[in-house]
Amino acid sequence: MRKNLLSIASALALSCSVSLALAQDNVDKKVSDLLSKMTLEEKIGQLTQYSGSELTGPQGEKINISEYIKTGKVGSVLNIYGTSEVSKYQKIAIEKSRLKIPLLFGQDVIHGYKTIFPVPIAMASSWDLDAVGAAQEVARNEATASGLNWTFTPMVDIARDPRWGRIVEGFGEDPYLASQFAKLSVEAFQGSDLGDETSMLATAKHYVGYGAVQAGRDYFTVDLSKRTLWEVFLPPFQAAINAQVASIMPAFTTMNGIPMTGNKEMTRDVLRNQLGFTGITVSDWNAINELIEWHVAANQSEAACEAIEAGVDIDMMSNAYINQLGALVKENKVPISLIDEAVARILKKKFELGLFEDPYKYCNADREVKEILSPENKAKARDVGKRSIVLLKNDDQTLPLSKSLNSIAVIGPLAEDTYSPMGPWFCNGSKDNTISVLNGIKQAVGKNTIIYYQKGCDVNSSDESMIDAAINTAKKADVIVAVLGENSDMSGEAASRSEIGLPGLQEKLLESLFNTGKPVVVVLLNGRPLTINWAQDHVQAIVEAWFPGSEAGHSIADVLFGDYNPSGKLPVTFPRSVGQIPIFYSHLNTGRPATAETKMLKYVSRYLDIDNSPLYPFGYGLSYTTFSYSPIELSASEIQPNDSATATVEVANTGEINGEEVVQLYIEKADSPIARPMQLKGFRKVEISAGNSVDVVFHIGPEELALYDIDMKKTVEKGIYNIYIGTSSVTYQKESITVK
Ligand code: BGC
Repeated sequence: MRKNLLSIASALALSCSVSLALAQDNVDKKVSDLLSKMTLEEKIGQLTQYSGSELTGPQGEKINISEYIKTGKVGSVLNIYGTSEVSKYQKIAIEKSRLKIPLLFGQDVIHGYKTIFPVPIAMASSWDLDAVGAAQEVARNEATASGLNWTFTPMVDIARDPRWGRIVEGFGEDPYLASQFAKLSVEAFQGSDLGDETSMLATAKHYVGYGAVQAGRDYFTVDLSKRTLWEVFLPPFQAAINAQVASIMPAFTTMNGIPMTGNKEMTRDVLRNQLGFTGITVSDWNAINELIEWHVAANQSEAACEAIEAGVDIDMMSNAYINQLGALVKENKVPISLIDEAVARILKKKFELGLFEDPYKYCNADREVKEILSPENKAKARDVGKRSIVLLKNDDQTLPLSKSLNSIAVIGPLAEDTYSPMGPWFCNGSKDNTISVLNGIKQAVGKNTIIYYQKGCDVNSSDESMIDAAINTAKKADVIVAVLGENSDMSGEAASRSEIGLPGLQEKLLESLFNTGKPVVVVLLNGRPLTINWAQDHVQAIVEAWFPGSEAGHSIADVLFGDYNPSGKLPVTFPRSVGQIPIFYSHLNTGRPATAETKMLKYVSRYLDIDNSPLYPFGYGLSYTTFSYSPIELSASEIQPNDSATATVEVANTGEINGEEVVQLYIEKADSPIARPMQLKGFRKVEISAGNSVDVVFHIGPEELALYDIDMKKTVEKGIYNIYIGTSSVTYQKESITVK
């Protein structure tokens, strides 16, 4: 019987793969038929992309977009959305252009479309793949209901420098964690079949190393060793490619001297031949023109030539392809085969999306009304919002607050704000649909609790005039909730900072509030790790809320009043000082490590003026309950290179309320010809009720143990592997496995 079932299953699998291959052949045939009918100008049109409305970078010559579509000079657009706008432009392509090739409509749907979810660094803080998957699916449903078929997300750049504003857009400092979210995001946006009306193309960006910009300054230089590139920066791209990501966007930056937009080795050889990417590459905004500013192209013609040779298929916003490629082909400087292969990749995605069969498939106005900002979507945003919050400090069980306190003073420049909680890249979100922290708190408490409010100061100014009123108000309350942090436009693109403390007078305001003697709870809204040493040393509780999105106030109130027990963990290290940057958990030990015993000695790797340790380490986050870990139990302490073992810990909830814990597995090769850091290799988010415990089992096999060897081949080396399982990158149980 079992044998029969197995043979039926394998017959089905075979017939599925045969029909997939047939469908693929069919698409390839359609692509080549269409390609054979296209003029050179029409082909170059497919490689050209323009923005319909908003600008996220410099604007070159202005064009008449309708006219360009009519004459086949545009293959895709960005920032045109809404079923009526999309169908208006699609209609021009279908009814007025010679070959009736449908357009792609793209936008940066980064953390929600109109229902805005927490910024990606916050979503990563949830370590909750199901919740984040649900968030990305809402974003996809709303975006596709509104005419879009392409998103420029996920951003999978590893970022270890909080000065860089774009750290907010990614999943943090760790390649394993980011790879999980990369895969999940691609699958959520693209669905199981691109032909579904709720599926859209995803884009993994910015390929590669953008997060390693020197000095954290946006658009600056990147220099990475081959080992760091492959071990740290490429894995999330590989994960996205393995999940069949449809497109990849090269970074604005250089890699070891060569801009990524004209980097043949990286975007052809590594990306396509080694990582196996077969989809579309789309330049970043105006990036082809910027090859001139990088001084690697003397003029636009050279820039276009370098980009197409590097395998950049689509020119976003620089007019370089449309202006230059025709002449370059005619002068035999660019072979037509390069253009053809780029066009084929684009047409293929248009066929796979089903746009040739129904160019208006994303223009269903009923769906648009029903899907967008639905109560279910808002409920999901609230849910993911609360799961993304990280409790950084909670002395004397200050939190959760009682809902029947006599009074609470909500103070701070971000308390009443409904714009910043959406964070940067809030797509088509609106502050009118966003719940402020103040509003969330007001709605959460009982009717007898008085909520006082004062702004206290602006986010980033030197105007002291509001501080006294804030102190006087704070004195009247049982507890102070100080809502502090950054404006959303202080992080994101072109938003690097050289100091990463609380901006303006906020720390001064906080000191004054603390001096009232009332308990102070700090709620942070921000897009990057902040050096909040003073707050950590003084106030009773600190809640890292990041930018939680449309439901910000509700998500935060859920945590403040204990309707939700916080479970987030930091996906990025918080430094004590800018001078410690770059600071990340997965660093080498050095030959002279500063340990508890050695750290005051002279010739060790340390600073004279500050401890090496971070303010908050990677993987850290508190709960309203406490968890304890048993020692690790290994199924085997010696294995062969191809074998695997299991590592089990019993995690107990030793407190009085139910909670969730993120159990983290780190592995470190202890004896290797190459110095190795500890690396996250697995995690589980488990719910444990008060007084109970669960066994958490990790599989440890070639996938977890393989490392790039001296020849850059992924190998399981023989020798000792240290295994750490714990609640953060610094608090764990330890064991070791020997590979024989
Ligand atoms: C950003 C990209 C974004 C593009 C389109 C650029 O400025 O770097 O991440 O996808 O604009 O909006």
